[in-house]
Amino acid sequence: MPMTLESLRAELPITDKAAYFNTGGHGPPPDSVLKAVSDEMALQAHNYGLPSVSSEQAAREKAAREGLARFIHAKPEEVALTPNTTQAMRQVSQSIGWSEGDEFVITSLEHVSTVSLGTALEQDVGVTLSVVEADRGDAEFLETLRSSLSERSKLLCISHVASPDGRVLPVAEAADLAHERGVPVVVDTAQSLGQFPVDVPALNCDFMVGSGHKWLLGPMGVGILWVSSDHLPSFRPNPVPEREPWSPPDSPIEAPTAAHMAEKGTHNTAMVIGTGRAIEVMDEIGPGAVAAHTGRLSSILREAAAEMDGVNVLTPTEPGRSAGLTTLTFDGYSPDDLRGLVSRIYEEHNAVVKFQWLTAPMRLDRIGMRISVAAFNTEDEVNGLIDAIREGASRL
Ligand SMILES: Cc1ncc(COP(=O)(O)O)c(C=O)c1O
Repeated sequence: MPMTLESLRAELPITDKAAYFNTGGHGPPPDSVLKAVSDEMALQAHNYGLPSVSSEQAAREKAAREGLARFIHAKPEEVALTPNTTQAMRQVSQSIGWSEGDEFVITSLEHVSTVSLGTALEQDVGVTLSVVEADRGDAEFLETLRSSLSERSKLLCISHVASPDGRVLPVAEAADLAHERGVPVVVDTAQSLGQFPVDVPALNCDFMVGSGHKWLLGPMGVGILWVSSDHLPSFRPNPVPEREPWSPPDSPIEAPTAAHMAEKGTHNTAMVIGTGRAIEVMDEIGPGAVAAHTGRLSSILREAAAEMDGVNVLTPTEPGRSAGLTTLTFDGYSPDDLRGLVSRIYEEHNAVVKFQWLTAPMRLDRIGMRISVAAFNTEDEVNGLIDAIREGASRL
């Protein structure tokens, strides 16, 4: 039977324990994903090295990669699997060939792991980290981006869905501006893959990085790297010879694949195969059905929050400008107040939400509560959370 929104919930024991609203941090994998991982690990442990088993395992891994490529409308040879999004981003950075004085342009809504990469490039290479404000609406963002890009810009990084406030950023338009200046673009889809249908090539970028363990509900330990076919011939995140030493000397030089360039050494095939099962689950439910469900529940949440005294909805509410992530801010709250509220919502109302820094580097006056409404959440859970927030906010 193909998975549905209802049967998905039945495969998630966490839904019996709490109303879980932190899929943007870590999505719970359904039982069938766990089974795919544990079956694979058992098979490896019990049969390691038997030729037939190795080739079947390679076939399952290939199928997982192909399923993922189909899911994002890419070609299998453009996809590599990394340990996480941070490593995928670093692979892209490694392939850039930075020199002193180059600029790494990022939006002000990028994840702290990207800011940390930029800071390291500043310290180690003398690259300038150029941060473009992105939380004041698309038109102003694109205008600021246009004037920030220069002949020194070497890479633009932009999130598809911003982690701090769930806003969908105008990735394709930003990529157009960057390309006019000859600047390649990496899009961070950690918060969009699995939230709604994502056609990666249509985002008009050169590289994409993303996570398996958030909205895709895969196991932890798999990041996704996509390298557009145009970039594959020059993509060099690692030193790789044209012909591997184990290839026969007269064999033809093979066309580079993202996996060949980025997946060096032994990796966690069980987690990759588990991610493949997670993609099947998403395909069966349909990312469009997920988006319709989470969009409806998020509207209920946002409309109720907007009515509460001292509570502000930071996430844009216009259609298409956000999906299942909602960030709330609270008038006059300190980080400790907000941490206390997040804890009480769990201890007294059994709901899990996230304390969220809204900027990187962190600023004490830029904090919020991030709520991830995912495919498995229900309207009852959202209504319970609304009561919990209303009650918690009024007590402080
Ligand atoms: C937008 C975004 N990018 C990157 C990351 C880092 O992901 P990972 O921990 O898989 O490296 C996260 C994690 O929350 C994220 O939300």
